[in-house]
Amino acid sequence: MPSRPIVVVTRRLPDAVERRLAERFDVRLNPSDTALDAVALTAALQDADGVLCTVTDRLTAEVLRAASPRRARIVANFGVGYNHVDVATARALGLVVTNTPGVLTEDTADVALALILMAARRLGEGERQLRAGAWPGWSPTHLLGMSLGGRTLGVVGYGRIGQALARRARLGLGMHVRFVTRTPRPADDVASPAESLDALLAESDVVSVHAPATAETRHLIDAAALGRMQRHAVLVNTARGDLVDEEALADALRRGTIAAAGLDVYEREPRVPPALVGLENVVLLPHLGSATDATRQAMGDRALANLAAFFDGAEPPDRVA
Ligand code: 8YV
Repeated sequence: MPSRPIVVVTRRLPDAVERRLAERFDVRLNPSDTALDAVALTAALQDADGVLCTVTDRLTAEVLRAASPRRARIVANFGVGYNHVDVATARALGLVVTNTPGVLTEDTADVALALILMAARRLGEGERQLRAGAWPGWSPTHLLGMSLGGRTLGVVGYGRIGQALARRARLGLGMHVRFVTRTPRPADDVASPAESLDALLAESDVVSVHAPATAETRHLIDAAALGRMQRHAVLVNTARGDLVDEEALADALRRGTIAAAGLDVYEREPRVPPALVGLENVVLLPHLGSATDATRQAMGDRALANLAAFFDGAEPPDRVA
């Protein structure tokens, strides 16, 4: 029997996915689930035919180049965002990279919607107050937030997740939805294009970010962008921390130049800037966008499908490099 490809799986995956991977490959699992450092990632690339990685694995140009001689020919990322993998270097080295698009769209849009509701209606603040034993009891003016029906949602980056959020906001909350996107596109049945990012920021009551993290989108929402938003507006980010200048955001929230924010992602996870942690008007979630059992299984199966196609000599369905 020919030997099976060796695949390093950098983090613990749902049991069923690990079983399915083990049926197909000579898997090297990570039962302790500790994130791999640069040395361990380099060793994985040197010793395995494929590496199944996650957002916690920083496959930088240095790590990819240090793994020489390299045995691995494919990196299958568990997740749609792959800014933690230096794809330009991977491409230059002839290393295939894949991701898992499509399967986490609805769950991530749900979390964006939850953050909009939590931030606009001050639900996080209320929960913290109650648990701290500091709820003074009902009053007509207690924790008044912004009602969302009839307000405008601005979606920055109108891909799968941005569109899924737009549907929820339009059909579920009765919001008007506008968007900006890299490749211009016409209005659809729930949303219409804004003239520019600046126009979108100025006209929106809620801004939700859904663009990929690239060199061009780093700190897309900076002090100047925040300055264009309305004082009562809410910012939500479920995409990548790099898109928002966290210090500028903390400053805007502290000074009240925007009303509130809801974040699921951070620039240097798991570090969350203390300047944000100290503020009441921001909801902080620990990167839960795709965290459901069904979706994590689907992500694992998609990564498996990419590995299987590659080792069968076919084009992996979700190749990004
Ligand atoms: C994942 C995500 O949990 O897919 C993405 O881009 O941000 C999350 O849904 C994470 O990336 C897993 O590696």
